[in-house]
Amino acid sequence: MIRGKIFYKGKFIEAGIEVEDGKIKRIGKLVKGRELDGIILPAGIDVHVHFRDFRESHKETIESGSISALYGGICLVVDQPNTNPPIENFEIYEERVKKAEKESYVDYALNLALTKRNLEKINETISKISEKYFLPAVGEVFIQHNDENFQIDYGELGKVKHKLTIHAEDPKFVQKGNPNFLYRKREAEIVAIKKCLEIGNFHFCHISTKDAAEMISKSKSTFEFSPHHLLLSEEDYSRIGYLINVNPPLRKKYEVEWLLKNFCLADVLASDHAPHLVEEKKEGVSGFPGVEVMYPIFVYLASKGLISFKELVEKIAINPAKIFGFQDYGEIEEKKYANFVVFDLKKVETIRASKLHSLCGWTPYEGFKAVFPEEVYIRGEEVKKSETKLGKSLRR
Ligand code: NCD
Ligand code: ZN
Repeated sequence: MIRGKIFYKGKFIEAGIEVEDGKIKRIGKLVKGRELDGIILPAGIDVHVHFRDFRESHKETIESGSISALYGGICLVVDQPNTNPPIENFEIYEERVKKAEKESYVDYALNLALTKRNLEKINETISKISEKYFLPAVGEVFIQHNDENFQIDYGELGKVKHKLTIHAEDPKFVQKGNPNFLYRKREAEIVAIKKCLEIGNFHFCHISTKDAAEMISKSKSTFEFSPHHLLLSEEDYSRIGYLINVNPPLRKKYEVEWLLKNFCLADVLASDHAPHLVEEKKEGVSGFPGVEVMYPIFVYLASKGLISFKELVEKIAINPAKIFGFQDYGEIEEKKYANFVVFDLKKVETIRASKLHSLCGWTPYEGFKAVFPEEVYIRGEEVKKSETKLGKSLRR
């Protein structure tokens, strides 16, 4: 059906892909098809997005977030449960998944929250959801949060009988204040990670320090880097001003450079797409949008040799599928879903918020270079040019 330079088993080969019933039937040098310019990579999986919706539909909706994902070459998202109201029980979990089934442009999975209100019944709730839906994880669990209901003690982590993803910052090292990088210390992350690793194995969200990255790499736990901790630093305060707050905060330039150089340490690249309006950012809220620009910026960086395509594909597609158990996703491989993205490396663009699809209307990457997808295929169908809503929720 298509032919081109395909990323297959760790390297690029010239071949064709034959699709049947949404899955890859055959990959081979003799398979005929429409010749595509550029490179063909597995579609991305973003395991950390906040698509808001419900009472925060002014910031983002499942529809606007998922079309952003589609334009960013992401075919599957894992939405986080710190919504308003939060995803704390079976009923609201089901309500949101059903909403996504109607409204999402890309495949959709949803994490369950662990809160003060639901922790007594968490294992029952996990079982009930898991009978019907594919529950990637409980998380992101907050060790520190301004909302008392979301803040969970270390002692509770060991009780949950499911994969946990953790936002690790220790409350003792977090003070309120703007810009937040002056008040939320590196130690907050390092201490929290140390304590969690003594309790068990987890998946850690958006790691921002060298010490934490090294500690987790030596353990059986896994972790994400988010694009902003690899590309932006405290120095960006002079450029983006009050937009700068994100949790964990941006770090000093030398640490950011170290993290990008040691990209190999992370298991996963995830955006932590956390949109807020500009007016809300002025009040000091934390979070950056990122789902639409993550893959495009990193494809550009790979084209310049700053990272390798092999590492990028591992962290944005292969490992997320393996770690969270998304069967048939993550690789261009026979019997897997025909989910892939075509990038033309000659078409370097400059990022402009006005061209992006998030309702938040801004980006911390204004002016950055990126290679956006030309075509995006979900289960063998081109869905970007056609803006087809092919997203499905992950069920049992
Ligand atoms: C996230 C949000 O706004 O939901 N904010 C952020 O700064 N990363 C929550 C979170 O992931 O901590
Ligand atoms: Zn977080």
